[in-house]
Amino acid sequence: MAEASIGSAEGPSARKEIVEGYCFFKGRLMPLAEATVGVATHALNYGTGCFEGIRAYWNSRETQLYILKAHEHFDRLRRSARILKMDVPYTSEELVDWTVRMLAHNEFHEDMYIRPLVFKSAQLIKVGLSGLRDDLAIFATPLGNYVATQGLQVTVSSWQRIADNIIPSRAKVTGAYVNAALASDQATADGYDEAIMLGQDGHVAEGSSSNLFMVRDGRLVTAPITADILEGITREAVFQMAADLNIAVEVRPIDRTELYVADELFLSGTGVQLAGIVGVDRRPVGDGRPGPVTTALQTTYFRAVRGEDPRYRNWLTPVYPQ
Ligand SMILES: Cc1ncc(COP(=O)(O)O)c(C=O)c1O
Repeated sequence: MAEASIGSAEGPSARKEIVEGYCFFKGRLMPLAEATVGVATHALNYGTGCFEGIRAYWNSRETQLYILKAHEHFDRLRRSARILKMDVPYTSEELVDWTVRMLAHNEFHEDMYIRPLVFKSAQLIKVGLSGLRDDLAIFATPLGNYVATQGLQVTVSSWQRIADNIIPSRAKVTGAYVNAALASDQATADGYDEAIMLGQDGHVAEGSSSNLFMVRDGRLVTAPITADILEGITREAVFQMAADLNIAVEVRPIDRTELYVADELFLSGTGVQLAGIVGVDRRPVGDGRPGPVTTALQTTYFRAVRGEDPRYRNWLTPVYPQ
C-alpha cells in the first residue's frame, strides 16, 4: 500500500510558507494570519523559546487522522519549558485536546506536522529568564517525508553538538537550533543529506535533528541521553519495536570510527521518521544497501504510525470522532 511504503522525500511541502488556516494562540483558535508578534519579542531577539515537532498521519481507509505520541511530546515540551523557567498554564491532556480541536477545525485530511511553541513574549531588552511573560502557540502544516527514508549519505560535521552546560540538548530550545542549522547547512552544501554531530568529548551525539542508531553484530546501539542528545520520542519507539522484534539494544557511547565499520546506520526522529543511511563520509555503510534490521524496524514503524498495527494503537490520538 502506497501510504505505508518507505518513500523518498517530498521536499516542496517543507518549503511552503505557513500562513493559512487556524492555529491555537492566546488561549483560543485564531487565523494564523492574526497570530503575530512584535519585533521586540524576547524570544525573537534571544532565542528564548522551546518547541515540539509532532506528526499526524492520515489513514485513508479509516478516514482518520492520527496524532503520533501526542502526550509524550507535550510532556517533553513542559520539561523544556521548565528548564527555561517558562510557564505552561495547561496540562499535557489539555494541550492534546487543543491540538485535536485545531486540526479538526482546519479539516486536515493528509499527513501533518504540528508545531507547539512556548516562548518569552515580553517585548523587553533584558537577557535573562525570570519575570518575562510567556505565550504558547500550536500550528500545523501538511508535511510528507521531510527527508528520504532510505539511501541517505551523511557526513560527520565539523560543528560540534552543544553540551548540556552550554545549551541543554534535552530541552528543545529554539535558539539552540542555530547549532543544528550550521551543521545541516554545511552538510547540504558539501553534497550530503544530513550531518552527524559529535559531542565535546568526541563521541557521536546525534543527527542535526534526529537521533542515530547503529547496528553492529546484530545489536542495535545508540548513544545515552547524557551524550548531549535530545531525548527522542521516536528513539523510545525504536526501543519498543526492537524488543517486540527480538533485537538486542545497547545504549552506550559510540566512537566516530564505529560509524565507518557499522553494519547498518539509521536516523530516528519525528521529522526524519526512520531513515536508513548508506554512506558516511563517502564510505559505504555495510554493503551500501538498506540493511535487514533497519528495514524491519521501518516496516513496523510505518504501519504503526497509521494505526495499522494493533500493538501500537496506544501511540495514536484520533482527531475525528470514531
Ligand atoms: C536535535 C534532535 N535530536 C533528535 C530528534 C528526534 O526527536 P523525536 O524522535 O522526539 O522527534 C529531534 C527532533 O525531531 C531533534 O531536533
